[in-house]
Amino acid sequence: MSQPEIPFLAGLDPAAVEAVRARMVALTVPGGRTLFEQGETGDALYTLVSGAVGVSTRDHHGVQTRIARLRPPAIFGEMALLSDAPRAATVTALRESQFLCLTRAAFETVIAEHPHTLLYFARMLAERLRTLYEG
Ligand code: CMP
Repeated sequence: MSQPEIPFLAGLDPAAVEAVRARMVALTVPGGRTLFEQGETGDALYTLVSGAVGVSTRDHHGVQTRIARLRPPAIFGEMALLSDAPRAATVTALRESQFLCLTRAAFETVIAEHPHTLLYFARMLAERLRTLYEG
């Protein structure tokens, strides 16, 4: 099976794109499936190839709130890898969805071989923060 395109990598140099692409693993999940829960240890980042996911958080009363709905080519799960903190939110497939995921070990190998990749992920994180400020 040929690898789907990875649009979120646009802007990275070809060698780095190839390093990431070669290590990404395809995953298909049915609608309703939770990929990971808030508070868990994060061991991979994901990019959405098809479908849609909901990002939700649970407050200390246990009340769950949807904070975002992501569509391709969204990337998510990078925060736990970058910060070593637990998952900040729960991510659930809203319908059958396809992903490419990159494990923490693969992410660290890519960063070691192509250090500027880290700047790319830092920019992506800054962009996500900026949209939070804008509301
Ligand atoms: P992580 O903390 O590893 O796991 C939950 C993920 O949800 C997080 O990484 C981000 O990728 C994503 N996420 C967190 N907050 C938001 C938000 N406000 N909008 C979109 N995605 C988010």
